[in-house]
Amino acid sequence: MNMLHEEEIEIINDFHDAALAGDVVKIDKLFPVVHFDAEDHFTTEEEMMAQNKFYGEQMHKSEHDSMRKKLATL
Ligand SMILES: [Fe+2]
Repeated sequence: MNMLHEEEIEIINDFHDAALAGDVVKIDKLFPVVHFDAEDHFTTEEEMMAQNKFYGEQMHKSEHDSMRKKLATL
């Protein structure tokens, strides 16, 4: 899972840099990437948790669902 998080950190950092720079064109370009990557991460982790019968699966899936709702409002 750490490798998944490393890729996301890079995407989020690029998005953060664009936001700090006020680069609206880059923000518009990167936001769908952030959104897609988040959903890809959530789905991949949920599959891994189910396959491995992870004890915290429901709690972590709830966190994913909460973030999904927040992203849907942006
Ligand atoms: Fe997660």
